Amino acid sequence: MRAIVLGLGTAVVLLVRVADAQMPLPAAKPPDGTTLFKQQCAVCHTLNLSEPMRQGPPLVKIVGRPAGKVEGFHYSEPLAKADFAWDETKLDAWLTNPQGVIPGVTMVYRQAKPETRAAIIAYLKEQN
Ligand code: HEC
Repeated sequence: MRAIVLGLGTAVVLLVRVADAQMPLPAAKPPDGTTLFKQQCAVCHTLNLSEPMRQGPPLVKIVGRPAGKVEGFHYSEPLAKADFAWDETKLDAWLTNPQGVIPGVTMVYRQAKPETRAAIIAYLKEQN
């Protein structure tokens, strides 16, 4: 009797699983910019001027900031000579491939996923 009950129980669970699997999948949770920044940028970039600089310049108020101009950071020559301000479009291209925006820059990072780049840029904007 016990075995039958257990067996029935398993069958019900299996049925429920099958029903679950046939339901439309919920939309994937969008990546969270705070976490992405921590995982993918923070090893090289701070978001303030009080902590010591890392391998890259601090990204304080980066949206709208002139490129290559943080005092005391030793930029590559091409980035130091850049003559534009960062906006969302520039940042998106930069995170896709920095050397595609300015040949010769030294940032070693590329992000192929548009939704990941967008989440990081949105987070940077919030920090502005
Ligand atoms: C392995 C280290 C490293 C990682 C990881 C990294 N960067 Fe950088 N980043 C740099 C370096 C080094 C520079 C300066 C490059 C140069 O001078 O050519 C830089 C420059 C920049 C600049 C230009 C800043 C300015 O003052 O003009 C931006 C914007 C930037 N990084 C954003 C990001 C973001 C956002 C991420 C994460 C998605 C990221 N970086 C990940 C090392 C890194």
